[in-house]
Amino acid sequence: MQNPMMSRNNPFTEGILRWYAENGRDLPWRRTRDPYAIWLSEIILQQTRIAQGTAYWQRFMETFPTVEDLASASEDQVLRLWQGLGYYSRARNLHAAARQIVDQGGFPQTLEGIRSLKGVGDYTAAAIGSIAFGLPAAVVDGNVYRVLARHFGISTVVGTTAAKKEFTSLAQSLLPMEDPAAFNQGMMDFGALQCTPASPRCMDCPLAAACDALRTGRTELLPIKKEAAAVRERRITYVYIRCQEQTAIHRRGPGDIWQGLWEPYVCERPEDLGGNLIPLASGVKHQLTHRTLLADFYLLETEKRPSLPGDYIWIPEAELDRYGKPRLFEHLLERL
Ligand code: ADE
Repeated sequence: MQNPMMSRNNPFTEGILRWYAENGRDLPWRRTRDPYAIWLSEIILQQTRIAQGTAYWQRFMETFPTVEDLASASEDQVLRLWQGLGYYSRARNLHAAARQIVDQGGFPQTLEGIRSLKGVGDYTAAAIGSIAFGLPAAVVDGNVYRVLARHFGISTVVGTTAAKKEFTSLAQSLLPMEDPAAFNQGMMDFGALQCTPASPRCMDCPLAAACDALRTGRTELLPIKKEAAAVRERRITYVYIRCQEQTAIHRRGPGDIWQGLWEPYVCERPEDLGGNLIPLASGVKHQLTHRTLLADFYLLETEKRPSLPGDYIWIPEAELDRYGKPRLFEHLLERL
């Protein structure tokens, strides 16, 4: 359990709070206590940079100003608004959680309640709990590992369960009871702006005098990471079929990174389709987390609809923007 007197007196905690007061970023979701707005920002920021995430947060808040608005939207509407952010399970979970919240009669106000929402893990629950309700829960993510590993000279390999326990316990012991939100967001910003992964700004860091990594010349070494998994490559062929101003698309099924999104015809041998096959691009790189996709794009112009598997539907080309699509499909459309 954390000791408020200890954290209040801890020079590291005081340093982060002061640094945050002077350097914290002015972000739109920091001007509200609305748990819905804060939750939305945290889900968007799970795998998205602030610059890109901010525009999406604003669009979501305009389109769905309340959790009730989001809950009563269709999944397609939510996916369409999410389009381009990637990791689409976040959007599906967001939508499901909005319905959970409405069914429960309001936003949960305890850490356990917040943690039980779909798509909310330990980090996000601590972020929402502390920022929206002042709950004393420390966030722990890559930024926090880095800042703490460097400042306190911790050489535990991160990315393991043991490391998570160790860093969580340390972060929790440093958390000031009187303002957990400022400390957590201070750690996020300090990690993003000052104690950066490469070339940290130690020269003007107010915590430098007490930084173990700086003193021992290990800022580039810490935190110690497990070797990254090899990135695999996979080829994919997209054929945009144009037949009397209509095109064929299908929806990705469950258990898939692009679940719920719509794609053009996917096949291995586009030549087998017959008709006038026009290559649009070859080997277009698309980076996923653990995989690089190399995509070949074709346009097939035909007067007669080829027979396609049962899950394809024909739609007027003019209606394509009504369908949520992975980025890769957008890239094809840009080349048409
Ligand atoms: N990353 C995740 N949550 C954040 C927040 N609330 N502020 C800044 N960066 C974040």
